[in-house]
Amino acid sequence: MAIFRKKIKAPDPISHTTIQHIAFIMDGNGRWAKKRGLTRSMGHREGCKRIKEIAILCQEYGISVMSLFCFSTENWKRPKSEVDYLFRLLKQFFENDIHELNARGVKIMISGDLSKIPEETKKVIDDALRLTKNNQEFILNICLNYGGKDEILRAVKAVIKDVQEDKLTIDSITEEVFERYMDTGILPPVDCMVRTSGEQRISNYMLWSLAYAEFIFVPEHWPDFKEASFLNVLKIYASRQRRFGGIKNESKGK
Ligand code: IPE
Ligand code: IPE
Ligand code: MG
Repeated sequence: MAIFRKKIKAPDPISHTTIQHIAFIMDGNGRWAKKRGLTRSMGHREGCKRIKEIAILCQEYGISVMSLFCFSTENWKRPKSEVDYLFRLLKQFFENDIHELNARGVKIMISGDLSKIPEETKKVIDDALRLTKNNQEFILNICLNYGGKDEILRAVKAVIKDVQEDKLTIDSITEEVFERYMDTGILPPVDCMVRTSGEQRISNYMLWSLAYAEFIFVPEHWPDFKEASFLNVLKIYASRQRRFGGIKNESKGK
């Protein structure tokens, strides 16, 4: 599908971001809560409020796609009560916040294996996908029961199936063809990956799409990641030089 460049919010260097696809690992909800003597659930609840806010900021600053890591294939290891609460929160997000996002032309996309997601959460996700399917202003890609390895493995299996059914020849499998079998295949590659809360790892996130992304690790916990933090990320990105294996310095991050 066509990815649209949006108008730019303000005439300052940050606003000229060339980020087309930004991907967030929202981390630190639990630590944010602990620091305040609150339960982890309260951290998740506060973190959930940032999703719509940050998506709107991305859209206003001319970014076309935002991916957000909401639940990993490894997060099932958490206590059942926390997992259940996370899915309840997501259900609320898809019921409540979807309307404003839809009014802004945001198209919801899901990456990950939805087969294990609770039925009631799946239902509201299906409603949101249907409601926003023709929107073209911005894509919010929610990564749910998502793992980078799992995404690649599912793609490999789908490719093998098509080869076995004579729909594809081995020689025709290029990177572009392979990508079409991935959840994130229709999206442009990630330009900028942001992880909150200080951890410097990617925790099985978007292993293919991050191939040439700029990584930005910020100390703020996700519930504290508001406009000032977002602008700081744009500034850091603008200072990076992206070379994609070349040697010229012309292709600045900004
Ligand atoms: C991120 O916050 C939310 C999810 C992983 C769902 P965490 O729950 O990982 O918070 P910390 O890292 O324990 O502080
Ligand atoms: C990554 O955060 C997953 C999501 C944000 C959904 P985690 O908190 O699960 O990652 P680790 O365990 O610190 O690597
Ligand atoms: Mg964490």
